[in-house]
Amino acid sequence: MRAALLILLGLAIGVIGTSQVMNALAARNPMPKAVMHTLGYHAGELKQAMKSQQCDAAKIQLHLLRLQSTSTDIVPTFGIADQGFTDAANKLQTTLQQAVAAAPATCASLATALKPVGEACQSCHQKYR
Ligand code: HEC
Repeated sequence: MRAALLILLGLAIGVIGTSQVMNALAARNPMPKAVMHTLGYHAGELKQAMKSQQCDAAKIQLHLLRLQSTSTDIVPTFGIADQGFTDAANKLQTTLQQAVAAAPATCASLATALKPVGEACQSCHQKYR
């Protein structure tokens, strides 16, 4: 009986300890998630603009530029030394460069410009998230 209780206690301590270590690791480097949340915010603002049919060219350009510059933070902050990951991040940068250059001024042209961007987000998430 006593041995069984001790084993249970040991397990509980192990579980608590593991979750604390995981939390500490996540807290030590908040940047990867911060970068993704920033991308998510700007992509969300653009989606919202399309949904409400309020596609102001200047606002669109601002969010596209923020997406583009934030996408350059992915590789240095994630520290994943995998060619596939770097390629996926580069792919996103390329699609965003093209979206910025297209300078969409209508909801329809924004939707066209964002399609390859969304695909670039998705294809990396499928493999690495
Ligand atoms: C090169 C790979 C890559 C690309 C490209 C990428 N992501 Fe991510 N994303 C990840 C990974 C890996 C995670 C999981 C991060 C984690 O859990 O620590 C993630 C997680 C997220 C999350 C959830 C954050 C959380 O708290 O778990 C959001 C939101 C997100 N990405 C948005 C985007 C958007 C929007 C784009 C495109 C504009 C994008 N991502 C492009 C790799 C990528």
